[in-house]
Amino acid sequence: MPASSHPMPENAFEDAARAAVYRAIFTRRDVRSHFSSEPLEDAVLARLLLAAHHAPSVGFMQPWNFIVVRDAARRAAVRDLFLAAREQELPAIAAERQALYRKLKLEGICESALNLCITCDRRRSENSPLGRWHNPQMDLYSTVCAVQNLWLAARAEGVGIGWVSILNEQALKELLGIPEHVAPIAYLCVGRVSEFAPKPDLEASGWGNRLPLPELIMSEVFGGSGETSLKETVALEALGRQS
Ligand SMILES: Cc1cc2nc3c(=O)[nH]c(=O)nc-3n(C[C@H](O)[C@H](O)[C@H](O)COP(=O)(O)O)c2cc1C
Repeated sequence: MPASSHPMPENAFEDAARAAVYRAIFTRRDVRSHFSSEPLEDAVLARLLLAAHHAPSVGFMQPWNFIVVRDAARRAAVRDLFLAAREQELPAIAAERQALYRKLKLEGICESALNLCITCDRRRSENSPLGRWHNPQMDLYSTVCAVQNLWLAARAEGVGIGWVSILNEQALKELLGIPEHVAPIAYLCVGRVSEFAPKPDLEASGWGNRLPLPELIMSEVFGGSGETSLKETVALEALGRQS
């Protein structure tokens, strides 16, 4: 939890609750390898969906739907889409990383308790595009907020989430009967897990490292190099925690 020399304002959470929020954020993982075969109780799934449904959305549009996918044959078909998409993606990966890419476990479609496709209905408030007249893509961003709410709530519930984006969008839409004006935003593997890894899988496997946050902070304009004291404080906060 960030250290502060100032007293907390009255409307801040009490210490334990604040710590729990940061704990969910810092220990959330994308899970592919550690799903257990346990079923997921409807009560838990209901809480996750409620958390998603309380995400912010442009113009309070709430453009999301949640397709719960349990059927084994349908999931196997999605996995086939993944395998095909992964082969198509491979040539775009730098030659020296292709062997590592092939070894990475990048989905848990069939092993997880269930799959969840979170979609964005691009026509939901077509006649009143509050906040979307200049920026029509804001409905997509809103749906991503719902995904993140669900992801964090899932961590608090001890439920793993793995996002599978290596899929051909049109083929996925056909498989799930998603209409033309609805975009599939996230295809998620959801379920109880044996563990939450301490680090991102892609970090542990040597694919990438977390970028140093101070180097990503700019001041006033893109590339602006001020905010030295903020950057030092950020570096100190980051020192107190791993990954
Ligand atoms: C939009 C999005 C798409 C992703 N797609 C995949 C995917 O197809 N397969 C996969 O294994 N992980 C996928 N991930 C998970 C990332 O690899 C993961 O978030 C990142 O490596 C950091 O790890 P962490 O989430 O455990 O912190 C995706 C994450 C996001 C946000």
